[in-house]
Amino acid sequence: MPAFANPFQGNVERKMTKEELIQAVRLNIAGELEAIYVYDAHVQATDNEYAKKVIADIRDEEKAHVGELMTLLKILDPQEAVSFASGEAEVEELLGAAKPSVSADQPSSAPSAPTVGSLVNE
Ligand SMILES: [Fe+2]
Repeated sequence: MPAFANPFQGNVERKMTKEELIQAVRLNIAGELEAIYVYDAHVQATDNEYAKKVIADIRDEEKAHVGELMTLLKILDPQEAVSFASGEAEVEELLGAAKPSVSADQPSSAPSAPTVGSLVNE
């Protein structure tokens, strides 16, 4: 929750070290993921089409922010980028030809898109 009541909340005493910056970017990513989760919950929790459209658009913009921050994190910590690539390769190997194709132009709300619930019994 915001801590705007404290007028000194945003004051900084010094610049971050590189390690602290990397940790800050990880925290930023977590914040973006939380925002996606909350916006998506609000989209699911209303039948108001105007609200669904606007909030879903904001949710999807947060996904782009995750991509930006992940790219920044890989630049700041190349070893972490190697770890991410290792994990990606592991999934590719596990799923092989069974991997579903991902279409960038497919809306996230498309009925054919898998959801957490749809994968529970797979
Ligand atoms: Fe964001």
